[in-house]
Amino acid sequence: MKPAIFLKMPKADIPTEKCLDSTLNLLTEGYLFIPNRTRKYNSSLFQTRLMGQKTVCMSGKEAAKLFYDQNLFTREGVIPKRIQETLFGKKGIQTLVGAAHMNRKLLFLSIMSPQQIEQLIKLTQRQWQINSKQWEKRNQVLLFEEVSKLLFQAACKWSGVPLKNSEAKKKSSDMSYMIDAFGAVGPRHWRGRCARNRTECWAKALIQGVRAGRIILPKDTALYTIAWHKDLSNKLLEPEIAAIELINILRPITAIATYITFGALALHTYPEYRDKLRHSDEVYQTMFTQEIRRYYPFGPFLGAKVRGDFKWQNHSFQKDDLVLLDLYGTNHDKMIWKDPNTFQPEHFEHREDNPFDFIPQGGGDYKTGTRCPGEPLSVELMKISIKFLVNNLEYQVPLQDLSYSLRRLPTLPKSKFIISNVKNLGNKGTLQ
Ligand code: HEM
Repeated sequence: MKPAIFLKMPKADIPTEKCLDSTLNLLTEGYLFIPNRTRKYNSSLFQTRLMGQKTVCMSGKEAAKLFYDQNLFTREGVIPKRIQETLFGKKGIQTLVGAAHMNRKLLFLSIMSPQQIEQLIKLTQRQWQINSKQWEKRNQVLLFEEVSKLLFQAACKWSGVPLKNSEAKKKSSDMSYMIDAFGAVGPRHWRGRCARNRTECWAKALIQGVRAGRIILPKDTALYTIAWHKDLSNKLLEPEIAAIELINILRPITAIATYITFGALALHTYPEYRDKLRHSDEVYQTMFTQEIRRYYPFGPFLGAKVRGDFKWQNHSFQKDDLVLLDLYGTNHDKMIWKDPNTFQPEHFEHREDNPFDFIPQGGGDYKTGTRCPGEPLSVELMKISIKFLVNNLEYQVPLQDLSYSLRRLPTLPKSKFIISNVKNLGNKGTLQ
């Protein structure tokens, strides 16, 4: 990476979109908005205008390295209000910077120790067993919805959140609606907003219940830890904010259902991997899981703001410019991945770990930066879920529309992956 030079620079020397504003194109091209243009211009950087604001879009490993330089970029004020109203909530960790961000980050990291991840894995395995027994009685099962529900149930048990079985479907759907709203306008946005309002009310009552002694919990649970977490001024978080952070645990665990659904799609589309996985070791299972996170779309890009003028790769970044880093495009960059548009777990064979070239959940260091603290947990939950699908369940995949649109943010197979004739193999399976 060339060093950044902090000087007033002449005009941008990168491809620049001619149209007045590209927001509509972004909404209609979805995951492909940035990759379409980096390909067209044969450049990993280009300039455009989004929501009336000058925006530099960038893709690739070097761009990711730059993007995570906290001396050059800040996340302050970057998340649009409509995304705070649906996906993230207001004043949660995603909106914080500097010491306040680090204080909150330590809270999340303290909830996700290897021992705690181990507990969540066990609870999730149990939930797969319990819930899939019920699926045997049904003609058809919508895998995405059922996996969302079981992950949510496991997440609640793990976090110390009391949840009746009868509430699980509705509340897990609310988690999914918040996620489904992130690239939406109109009814999908409003559905996400209503889901957030309902969920914040519920989560706030839980926080208040813990603080008032009505809910008694072990100290290592997420609900307990968040309820009693203190901010930089040594004060408990406002109940509304603590509620948002509790949702920041429950919602993304539920979101792993998207990757598991794509995992089921991969097993269906490339049946040769089923056998391979059945007879493989942990290393291959990890490779398969990582390839799901690389190949299939989820988070499209991330935004940041330029702190002060500097020049990089012939482009003058100017204070307050918006910059988007292309997550999907970087995971499909042909400079990084051989045959990037082919599903191939071997992409992860002999791969040298690098924090900037495989970035489905952000890049850099999750302890000191903004990278997703739930990444190790996500990988482990995906692995045991794929193992369960392969070893412990028998099912058929009836005719349905399994295509997914790269123009929709976020996307899923259109049918949400229907399975039928489900049989839980119980101990006949080889769940390890
Ligand atoms: C479906 C799997 C997941 C995906 C695709 C995902 C994706 C992401 C992305 C792209 C970021 C932003 C990184 C950045 O700004 O540099 C992020 C941040 C975050 N994620 Fe995840 N995530 C997932 C699962 C989880 C889980 C399971 C948890 C917690 C249990 C979690 C909690 C968080 C938190 C708290 C942040 C904010 C980090 C910060 O600001 O420092 N995520 N995630």
